[in-house]
Amino acid sequence: MPTSAGQTYSATTKVLHWLIALLMIGLIWLGWYMVDLTYFDKWYNSSLAIHKSLGMLVLPLAGAKILWAFLSPAPAFVDTIKPWERVAATSTHHVLYFMMVVIPVTGYAISTSAGSAVSVFDLFDIPAVLPESEGLRDLAVELHYYLSYGAAMLVAIHTLAALKHQFIEKDGTLSRMWWSWSRSKV
Ligand code: HEM
Ligand code: HEM
Repeated sequence: MPTSAGQTYSATTKVLHWLIALLMIGLIWLGWYMVDLTYFDKWYNSSLAIHKSLGMLVLPLAGAKILWAFLSPAPAFVDTIKPWERVAATSTHHVLYFMMVVIPVTGYAISTSAGSAVSVFDLFDIPAVLPESEGLRDLAVELHYYLSYGAAMLVAIHTLAALKHQFIEKDGTLSRMWWSWSRSKV
């Protein structure tokens, strides 16, 4: 079996991966920061508006990423990756795909549970389509909370694994998801 150390993800996969990664990490931080603000804080309203707008942006990007994953499959694992690591990495990727869809949907459910639309950067509104419900709101808040902080833990593990493979095992894992700067060196 040929080694896949020289194989790389497609440019579209890389752009989508890093855009979504930046947004998800930023949104987890922003969500964590904004829920502790009080009404008198000047960021109270704008932080939530930005959170909702950026959060809704994740949804079409995640749709494109998932569609693209079928059209442009990931390169084969490097030969030195152990079987259990392949299973762990693939499962983590699948759960992350799930998170990038379900977290924005639960956020949308919180924000529209009283019947109001979500404004995206004041450019356009996404209408409320779910039934108005206090129960649905409570469930959506719980799910949004646990899924977001669950995603934070998973992203930390995913990042540490990528760094360990790149810099300790030197198998080029991170380079496959990046542009050519270090791929030629590993
Ligand atoms: C700084 C943070 C991150 C780093 C360093 C990183 C790094 C990587 C690397 C190196 C790969 C390729 C793994 C391989 O070839 O086996 C990868 C794949 C992947 N990452 Fe990340 N990642 C980060 C954040 C995220 C975030 C926040 C998400 C989504 C919530 C995410 C979702 C994925 C998915 C779904 C794949 C599989 C891609 C595919 O098979 O097409 N990553 N990541
Ligand atoms: C990938 C996308 C998203 C991530 C990672 C994310 C993450 C988070 C986090 C970490 C919190 C803080 C939870 C807490 O500590 O209580 C939060 C709160 C919140 N998010 Fe998101 N969010 C995303 C998308 C959205 C979207 C699309 C909306 C609405 C359209 C939204 C609406 C809200 C609301 C209303 C809260 C406050 C909930 C409360 O009052 O407890 N989020 N989000």
